[in-house]
Amino acid sequence: MIPLIATTLLLATSALSLGNHGGARKSLSFGPKHPTAKLNVPSEQVHAASFGLEKRAHCGHDYDPKELAASFVQSLHGGGEFRIREDSYTDARTGVSHIYVRQIVNGAEVMDGDINVNIRDGQVISYGDSFYRGDTPTYAMDPSSLFEPTHDQAHHCEALSSHLTSFLATPSGQVPFNPDHPTEEDAELLAMLHSHNCPSSPLDDGEPELLVDPSVSALNFMMLAAPDAEVSAALKANYGAHLELLTVIPTESLISTSPAVEIHNVPHTTGSVKAQLAYVQTPHPEEENMTVLNLVWHLTVPMEDNAYEAFMSATRANRLISVVDWVSDAYVPIPKPGKEKNPVYNVWAWGVNDPSEGNRSLVSGYDKTASPAGWHAMPSSASPYSADKKPKVPEDDEDPIMNFTTTWGNNVFAHENLDGRNEWEFNQRPDAGSEMIFDYNYLPAKNFTGTNPREYLNLSITQLFYTANMIHDIYYRYGFDEKSGNFQQFNFGKGGKGNDAVICNAQDGSGYNNANFMTPPDGQNGKMRMYVWNTAKPWRDGDLEAGIVIHEYSHGLSTRLTGGPANSGCLGWGEAGGMGEGWGDFYATTIRSTSTYQDYAMGSWAANRPQGIRNFIYSLNMTVNPSTYKTLDEPGYWGVHAIGEVWAQILWIVENRLIKVHGFNDNLFPPEALPNGTIPEGDFYRPATYTKKGKRLPLIPKHGNTLAFQLVMDGMKLQPCRPSFFDARDAIIQADEILTGGENKCELWKGFSERGLGPDAMLKGGTPWGGGVRTDDYTLPEGICDVDDTPENGPEE
Ligand SMILES: *[C@@H]1O[C@H](CO)[C@@H](O)[C@H](O)[C@H]1NC(C)=O
Ligand SMILES: *[C@@H]1O[C@H](CO)[C@@H](O)[C@H](O)[C@H]1NC(C)=O
Ligand SMILES: *[C@@H]1O[C@H](CO)[C@@H](O)[C@H](O)[C@H]1NC(C)=O
Ligand SMILES: *[C@@H]1O[C@H](CO)[C@@H](O)[C@H](O)[C@H]1NC(C)=O
Ligand SMILES: *[C@@H]1O[C@H](CO)[C@@H](O)[C@H](O)[C@H]1NC(C)=O
Ligand SMILES: *[C@@H]1O[C@H](CO)[C@@H](O)[C@H](O)[C@H]1NC(C)=O
Ligand SMILES: *[C@@H]1O[C@H](CO)[C@@H](O)[C@H](O)[C@H]1NC(C)=O
Repeated sequence: MIPLIATTLLLATSALSLGNHGGARKSLSFGPKHPTAKLNVPSEQVHAASFGLEKRAHCGHDYDPKELAASFVQSLHGGGEFRIREDSYTDARTGVSHIYVRQIVNGAEVMDGDINVNIRDGQVISYGDSFYRGDTPTYAMDPSSLFEPTHDQAHHCEALSSHLTSFLATPSGQVPFNPDHPTEEDAELLAMLHSHNCPSSPLDDGEPELLVDPSVSALNFMMLAAPDAEVSAALKANYGAHLELLTVIPTESLISTSPAVEIHNVPHTTGSVKAQLAYVQTPHPEEENMTVLNLVWHLTVPMEDNAYEAFMSATRANRLISVVDWVSDAYVPIPKPGKEKNPVYNVWAWGVNDPSEGNRSLVSGYDKTASPAGWHAMPSSASPYSADKKPKVPEDDEDPIMNFTTTWGNNVFAHENLDGRNEWEFNQRPDAGSEMIFDYNYLPAKNFTGTNPREYLNLSITQLFYTANMIHDIYYRYGFDEKSGNFQQFNFGKGGKGNDAVICNAQDGSGYNNANFMTPPDGQNGKMRMYVWNTAKPWRDGDLEAGIVIHEYSHGLSTRLTGGPANSGCLGWGEAGGMGEGWGDFYATTIRSTSTYQDYAMGSWAANRPQGIRNFIYSLNMTVNPSTYKTLDEPGYWGVHAIGEVWAQILWIVENRLIKVHGFNDNLFPPEALPNGTIPEGDFYRPATYTKKGKRLPLIPKHGNTLAFQLVMDGMKLQPCRPSFFDARDAIIQADEILTGGENKCELWKGFSERGLGPDAMLKGGTPWGGGVRTDDYTLPEGICDVDDTPENGPEE
């Protein structure tokens, strides 16, 4: 067994966690680059009136935002077909409508043909556009015309191999490559080599076929996704026998007219695989900014440790074009209803990152605005044990509010999972009885060999339940609500899809030294798995480090907010996937920080390692944390965690600039709503301002840290699917424009520029899996700052 050292201890959505025996949860996420998908801010006004739309009151808007989005998309793409997605919504706080548009070609969805149109006051204020722009292929009638090679195969293989080689050569304490225990990056690279039919592929590199049978696609995908090489080899050895066992049943799709099937008996799945013909784009081999369409089988593959959304070429049986890992789970189960009483928890209270930072205390209370039914109640119909009934707003006793005395509630189901199983419904939860006092002993090992976290299991579950609920509440208050896709069983009739509280596994036995979060689309439960850290001496329990829980939950936040609640495929890989990691570190660090500035490490308590689990600790000091945009070019910055730490570092700089200007608030929670629903300003918001008609404008957080918290979240809603660093930066700057009229433009740009993300920062030659050559820019856009245009402390050239 190879020694596991700290640089491989990565918090992950799509990562390998390091398994019981040093083995790994394999996870694949990669796909092509989308040259046209950037955040565009129209230079001229794009108003509904310019499309001849009629003014008509529509849910508080003068114009119907969906109608405007449709006209706008038509103006961009002529007569092309598209549909407005159901998960489009108008943000209650900012009044910005986020309309998601999906391209359709030949009746099939272009799965990465997305436009997010952001609309305010009858105007398109920004949009991202990754629609396919070339000629419509003739599919179905003549599939043979689809054989044009979409990748330069030799180039791909060469580039992939050299990435692998350079990665393996990385010094900096990486675990040496071991094919039996590949690291996350190794596994992904190897899988890509396989999927592009490169020489090391275990699969036969056959001739292009007409239309690949979907069961062949499913089985070939499973050979790539199989938990380990042995399983994969066994599949290959018995390929014919496996194939014979598969049954394919045609199904109907509500949204697309293209053929869809369900495939049963696919090995290593936990349910049927869904397959539908669709398109996915890959870069055009010659023309810059153009793509070609690939006919694919869009597979949804449920597995024990993964839930994949995969796109297998429907014309080349072995080619996996892109894949994202998110997991969904079925449920069945049985919580115990009890009497309602204000619950109390003996925990490390909000803001205490871990046991080294403070002692436990008895706390109670939840945010009534975010969790109107508290943390332990929901209508009977919304509780999974009666999941066959649809949730509804309770009107009478037919659907009573159930009060639970365990760590079971509307936002979070928390329980032990020592055995590392997929099932969770009947796992043990502490029961506080009618007194509702969750008070359990903490019995940490006193010596180096201690391996005892399970001796305080009830405390761990309580802490996880508490922290996850607090995160639900605080994110809610900054705008991660029902409509934008938050995680709740019951949505109180406020829009979005329910039935998706976060399933939280404490001390999950499926791994060590890690944690992960799986985010399926809105309406399906998120799942957080927290692990014990056995590299720490004595062993430590990740459940007790709030930063890790916040990091994980934030995957759910960023995935649901980027590209719309129903699209879980927007932060799969590359810079987008990296930022998916970075936002979690940013919020974890922001939540623990105090009015006295300090540098912070991630995961430092759980790993028992002062430097934590990232390359650098988060710091304003260039010597302590030298990360800039260009750092992403360096060896070792291929994986999403390293990319994420650069993004989190940049946001940390930006936030601290806002703190310098606007000061610091010790309390990140906005005041609760008054009985009439109005949120009072308190000492949290600036005095409210009103339109001429007397309508209250969105409240602006008064302090730098709360403002940064808000702008970063608002930015996620504005940015397009698969955003780059540039898109996410521009979205935050537009969020400020929307909230404050752009008063922080100068400070924001100074922050981004300080770490190389100025207006002329560039990326040349990026590949689908990352890479490329970046140029830092430490300048500021012209005329953006009144006084002084030179950043204060960018590095010397
Ligand atoms: C491709 O797009 C980039 C960025 O939008 C632009 O700078 C470049 O000129 C475009 N290239 C072509 C050939 O259109
Ligand atoms: C916890 O409480 C003990 C006893 O009151 C005190 O000595 C210790 O410093 C506290 N620990 C922290 C991390 O605050
Ligand atoms: C749960 O508590 C609520 C309010 O606290 C109460 O109205 C309701 O009747 C309780 N439900 C049950 C099943 O006791
Ligand atoms: C944990 O809680 C459960 C349910 O309340 C209880 O049965 C069990 O004895 C508790 N375990 C410990 C070690 O206190
Ligand atoms: C270390 O602590 C554990 C309990 O946490 C105990 O079982 C074990 O005997 C201790 N070992 C030594 C050498 O004291
Ligand atoms: C930055 O960190 C370095 C290394 O710890 C230290 O020597 C230097 O004084 C720090 N600079 C500032 C401005 O704090
Ligand atoms: C809500 O109540 C507060 C305090 O009583 C009052 O100042 C405010 O005007 C009310 N708002 C509305 C919209 O009625």
